[in-house]
Amino acid sequence: MTDWTTADIPSLSGKTAVVTGATGGLGYETAMALAGAGAIVILTGRNDAKGLRAIEGICERFPNALIAYEHLDLASLASVADFTRRFAAGNEQLDLLGNNAGVMALPKRQQTADGFEMQLGTNYLGHYALTAQLLPQLRRAKAARVVNVSSLAHRSGAINFDDLQAKHSYRPWRAYCQSKLAMLMFSLELQRRSLAAGWGLTSLAAHPGYARTDLIANGPGANTFQSRVSRWLQPFISQSAAEGALPTLLAATSPAAQPGGYYGPNGFYELKGPPRSAKIMPQAKDFASAAMLWDVSATLTGISFDEIAAAA
Ligand SMILES: NC(=O)c1ccc[n+]([C@@H]2O[C@H](COP(=O)([O-])OP(=O)(O)OC[C@H]3O[C@@H](n4cnc5c(N)ncnc54)[C@H](OP(=O)(O)O)[C@@H]3O)[C@@H](O)[C@H]2O)c1
Repeated sequence: MTDWTTADIPSLSGKTAVVTGATGGLGYETAMALAGAGAIVILTGRNDAKGLRAIEGICERFPNALIAYEHLDLASLASVADFTRRFAAGNEQLDLLGNNAGVMALPKRQQTADGFEMQLGTNYLGHYALTAQLLPQLRRAKAARVVNVSSLAHRSGAINFDDLQAKHSYRPWRAYCQSKLAMLMFSLELQRRSLAAGWGLTSLAAHPGYARTDLIANGPGANTFQSRVSRWLQPFISQSAAEGALPTLLAATSPAAQPGGYYGPNGFYELKGPPRSAKIMPQAKDFASAAMLWDVSATLTGISFDEIAAAA
């Protein structure tokens, strides 16, 4: 079997996609490839100047790209709700949602506008709220896909229900691993719930291995010991942002992608290489914890998939 590449993306003409955190890194590359395949792509981000530069970059490569930028700060439930209202006003349906935005290992505990620990709030709870509020548009699409970006970090993750927001004890990497495990559990649970309730959408997950992006600079910072070590190792164990986006793109577009599947690079420890099925750790397959996380997320955000589905 030959390796999957962007050349395998089918025509996406007439499809609408939303990508979060598309102002840089993997989200930008994902949006670029989707636009190149003819999709109408809405790039979203928290930094409008970067968003406009991203639009210019994509238009330089694909002058006929059907793209727009919209403000969407996942660290604010008000911003998420505002975006989904604007999206619903202009769009009947949504074919593809790429839940990609994220921050990693912030050295000091920070909070979102709603008081959530920043990594859980941005990486997971914001995407939970976004997906739920886009459910009516996703359901109207013929075969919508939601792709949730997780990480190798989910392997070391645990959901600490007793201190979900790390109020009592904050460790940067532990909070990151928890948020990425939460994304993978959410992805699997969304697939189960969609099947059970007949929402008609497919949920998949992906991870990029280790891709060279701004994630370290935006998180732990370029001058930490870990960053220096990882810079030294980069040439051997990392890949470009465009290569890192391939698992997301496969999950988003390949007819062969499996509902509830998880995709990542095929090389040593899934750090780099062409995309294929990735390893899911047992804690991500803990259905009882996933159901509990779903309920806790509904309580924390005040947003219920079931209520939104019933009202649509
Ligand atoms: N790079 C890797 O090796 C790696 C490995 C595993 C998983 N991941 C995951 O891949 C995803 C993308 O990361 P990346 O590597 O591409 O890093 P990146 O270059 O730092 O890009 C992250 C994107 O998320 C955006 N973002 C951060 N906080 C946001 C918020 N509150 N609201 C909206 N957007 C926000 C950033 O916006 P700004 O442009 O404003 O900063 C940026 O567009 C993340 O979920 C990350 O956890 C990456």
